[in-house]
Amino acid sequence: MAAGIDDISVYIPKLYVDASDFAEARGLDPQKLVRGLGISKMAIVDSNQDPACLAANACLQIMQKNKLSPEDIGRLYVATESSLDESKAMNSYVIGMLEQVYGSGSFQHCGGIECKFACVSGSYALYDNSNWIRAGESEDKHALVVVSDIAKYDLGSSGEMTQGGGAIAMLLNDKPRLLEFDPKVTSTSIKNEYDFYRPFGKETPVVHGQYSNLLYLIQVKNALVDYTKKAIKTGLITLADDESMLDHMDYINMHLPYSNMGKKALAYLVRHEWRSTPRWAKIIEQVGMNEPVPKDPRGTIESILADSEFMTKDHEFTKRFANTNDYQEVYENKVASSLIASKMIGNLYTASLYLGFRSCLEFEFQKGIDLDSKRFGFASYGSGSSAMVFSGVIQPEYEEIVKDMNLEAEIGERKKLSLEEYEQLHENKLKPEQSLLNAKKEFVLEYVEGLSSESRGERRYSFAD
Ligand code: CAA
Repeated sequence: MAAGIDDISVYIPKLYVDASDFAEARGLDPQKLVRGLGISKMAIVDSNQDPACLAANACLQIMQKNKLSPEDIGRLYVATESSLDESKAMNSYVIGMLEQVYGSGSFQHCGGIECKFACVSGSYALYDNSNWIRAGESEDKHALVVVSDIAKYDLGSSGEMTQGGGAIAMLLNDKPRLLEFDPKVTSTSIKNEYDFYRPFGKETPVVHGQYSNLLYLIQVKNALVDYTKKAIKTGLITLADDESMLDHMDYINMHLPYSNMGKKALAYLVRHEWRSTPRWAKIIEQVGMNEPVPKDPRGTIESILADSEFMTKDHEFTKRFANTNDYQEVYENKVASSLIASKMIGNLYTASLYLGFRSCLEFEFQKGIDLDSKRFGFASYGSGSSAMVFSGVIQPEYEEIVKDMNLEAEIGERKKLSLEEYEQLHENKLKPEQSLLNAKKEFVLEYVEGLSSESRGERRYSFAD
């Protein structure tokens, strides 16, 4: 049985910090954010928003657009790394909010959990729900998988320039109009790591930035190697002598903690893929230097990062490689469109990969490209750490979904925050009733029961008309 994404909706908060204003306030060169990381705006949540209301807003949008009633939904999963409770799952809050619109008890039949594995958990949730559909358990109902996060780092930390927030809801079924997943090729890589983690009670993560960048690349490459083996074994592709797996993907979507991570990851994967093909000799000629090797090629990530001579040479090699016509062609045709939305919005953790997918659909369609039957590869990464590589094919009815996509219009008018307003929100100085915007036709947080109450921690939401 087939399974895939039938439709996709995006909810992005309407407040943002401008990257250049931010850089100036932190004494950084704005070009580091704009050119170095590929960030122009970071979406910021208001004081009456949390990841559960972002998720509920994305769900309501997709249900209303497709005229679905709760009876049509069999499962509602929320994947997040911005958990609100150590026990109560985020999808229960979302169901509570949706029932304010659809009626109390209207989702009672619906199953689901909150999923956690940093930014990769949404991909595991999609895979598990696809298998629920493939197993014939769905009884013609849809699964809703929502990825929702607020990417928040300590003030003044190196991660602070890679913040953002938002949610994406994906409707899954056995006759998807948008993308059908390729069966039996989904591949994973997993290892106990401390590149980025958020201990209990801490609102922001502990991050080892450069370590996390390199670990992301290694983990995604490992999952791609496994994916390639499965794609050949299942007959999904046949690899000719001078071909690599990436030649068989029309588009590649990467996890995007910041937009340029997509470029970085593509360069790393393409180097790995092409190194053993006959075309590599021509590439090395164009690059004009040999590919550097670390002093200890079997060393740890720490030893590689500490090998400054190798790191400098490798940086130079990557820069030259990224300027070759062969790489540029792959970048422009397979990845560039997926990076546009991330520049406008910032990091969405679990939702970043799917914002990239959504961005690719909208901006490739606008170029007049026929996307029917195109294969999309997905490279998902979650710190801690695990990567997942999978793929799917665009379906003939895709145009029905993609023709109306317009991210700017969907977000609506946005308010640029002053640095003072941003820092007040960041440090949780404003109460929900002191929100900077008047929400309309969306779910908002009203209050959280305080420490002195018997029901401490209970969260109350309402639908702002
Ligand atoms: N003009 C133009 N470019 C500039 C510049 C300038 N003035 N100054 C610096 N740059 C470039 C640098 O050359 C670099 O480009 P390359 O990557 O091509 O080398 C880029 O800007 C970034 O500069 P640095 O590497 O020096 O930046 P940094 O070390 O201060 O911070 C970061 C970067 C490590 C990503 C940091 O923002 C961070 O810790 N972020 C949080 C962790 C993270 O996002 N990790 C990603 C992988 S893990 C993951 O993906 C999970 C997740 O979602 C968090």
